[in-house]
Amino acid sequence: MEAIVVKNLSKFFSPSKYGGKGKERKRVQQNSRKIIRAVDDISFEVEKGEIFGFLGPNGAGKTTTIRMMTGVLKPTNGKISIFKQDVWKNTIAVKQITGNVPEEANVYLDLTGWQNLIFIGEIYGVDKKNRVARAEMLLKKFELFDKRNLKSMKYSKGMKQRLLLCMALMSNPEILFLDEPTSGLDVQSARIIKKLIKEYNEKGMTIFLTTHDMEVANELCHRIAIINHGKIISLDTPENLKDLTQEYQAIDFYFINRASKSEIQNLRTVKEVQEVKGGFHIIVEDIHNAIFEIIEYIKSNNLIIKQINTHEPKLEEAFLKIVERGDKN
Ligand SMILES: Nc1ncnc2c1ncn2[C@@H]1O[C@H](COP(=O)(O)OP(=O)(O)OP(=O)(O)O)[C@@H](O)[C@H]1O
Ligand SMILES: [Mg+2]
Repeated sequence: MEAIVVKNLSKFFSPSKYGGKGKERKRVQQNSRKIIRAVDDISFEVEKGEIFGFLGPNGAGKTTTIRMMTGVLKPTNGKISIFKQDVWKNTIAVKQITGNVPEEANVYLDLTGWQNLIFIGEIYGVDKKNRVARAEMLLKKFELFDKRNLKSMKYSKGMKQRLLLCMALMSNPEILFLDEPTSGLDVQSARIIKKLIKEYNEKGMTIFLTTHDMEVANELCHRIAIINHGKIISLDTPENLKDLTQEYQAIDFYFINRASKSEIQNLRTVKEVQEVKGGFHIIVEDIHNAIFEIIEYIKSNNLIIKQINTHEPKLEEAFLKIVERGDKN
């Protein structure tokens, strides 16, 4: 079942309506008479229960798309429905079932973490008993409970971002929109956020996520759309995206004792051997078969292995290639 259906969605900005101030506004208006096609006729569907990644370089159109999907920015063309309700005809109903952490969101700085959550609960019409219970549960999950009575202006960036997620989850939404939830965060905050995105998704929540962090995308997303210059240039599972651009597979073997480069080179499954400090970088056709053959060679020559690393294709490489290829066309 589709949770989100986006059809022929576009957003064009006229430079004369650019929201900048003074000189900057004048400069933009004078230098560019062209319409900015921030989002240019995109269509896709997100399945219920999916973590859907929306990736793209800076200025690709990700935030503009999310803003249209969450009823903040009116599309120039096209249609978005969330659980079969039109976002722009039934905005309030859609907002009731969605949670949103925008790119440049902020918490209410004069309120404590606790007050922020209770306030949001009130806005969403969560009844008092549930409000308190949910605020407590969320603050504990996101490791903020100890700081609940601290004014949130005193929160660090990572704590604010975690609080924003708690706020978005107060109404127990069916769909969660996250615009770069881990950007600029330390390892610990990013890890807590990643873990909880996974956990909520496992309980059935659909998640629409933009990120520049390829590790996050690779680890969390069931499918990924890549957008550039307002157009979707690729949409697939992380595995398929990586396979598509995979150039070679390789294994690094590090030995305690000395192995022979030429003997390894002669193995049937080995394409090329490069010497690296303490071992070999072995380029192979098929990792699965190569590992068996190399291990067999190691056993029969009484070699002792210190370390083995396999080189998997990386989403980052796939992403760069897809974007570069798109730019050339
Ligand atoms: N209000 C606006 N007026 C004019 N142009 C805009 C406006 N908002 C966005 N744009 C332009 O639309 C394009 C897409 O911007 P958007 O913020 O959607 O990119 P993004 O993919 O979220 O980038 P980032 O990764 O940097 O967050 C950019 O060229 C941007 O300058
Ligand atoms: Mg953005």
